[in-house]
Amino acid sequence: MSQQSDHSLKRRGIFITLEGMDGTGKSTQLRLLVKHLRERGCRVVATREPGGTRVGEQVRGILLASRTGKLAPLTELALMYAARAQNLEEVVRPALARGEVVISDRYNDASFAYQGWGRKLGAVAVWSFDQAVCGPTQPDLTIVLDLNARAALKRAKRRELSRNSVRGRFEAEGLRFHERVRAGYLVIARNDPRRVRVVRADRPVPEVQAEIRKLVDALLARRSR
Ligand code: TYD
Repeated sequence: MSQQSDHSLKRRGIFITLEGMDGTGKSTQLRLLVKHLRERGCRVVATREPGGTRVGEQVRGILLASRTGKLAPLTELALMYAARAQNLEEVVRPALARGEVVISDRYNDASFAYQGWGRKLGAVAVWSFDQAVCGPTQPDLTIVLDLNARAALKRAKRRELSRNSVRGRFEAEGLRFHERVRAGYLVIARNDPRRVRVVRADRPVPEVQAEIRKLVDALLARRSR
């Protein structure tokens, strides 16, 4: 039996993913959620994609650096899934098998939204990678932080300036691209309303966090029954 199916058969943990466009405040919300769950006594493993492992962070460097220049959309997709395969093997599946809560800053829905919709590769291309790499390791709950594309881009730009950082490959994309990404996330949510919940991100941080906690606490309550 392959290691993948072995881990997924023994899976006992809970897998939560946070998604949304750049500039929706995902990382702040993730940090607050991890704190909340640890205070509740949960064993939590936080990770991010692309990244989360040594190899994954190297792949992230290629994917995000503007000096990489143009990548063929399929190359971009394959690299996203390469980083994901490593993260699943090293971090996600072992933690789930130990019965822990895994929270990931982005996962496979980002590939559907950014590569499937943003880069126009379509869902079928993404699915073929997804079946091979993720297989049954799908999130139990996905929270999509939603903001209109113009506001999200503005926030991402402000953050860039305050950190004095160079604009990455995705942040450099125009409004149209980000509008497609947003539309992609909303379609994903509409098609899978039990798993994917949309949370409006145009509100103060504590308000957004309170809604996220409600969704996560409800999932934990269902699981402990
Ligand atoms: P992220 O870590 O959220 O960036 P930041 O730390 O600047 O908020 O995500 C990095 C970028 O990678 C983001 O623009 C979305 C993109 N991405 C994809 O295009 N496809 C994917 O499958 C993933 C996981 C990320």
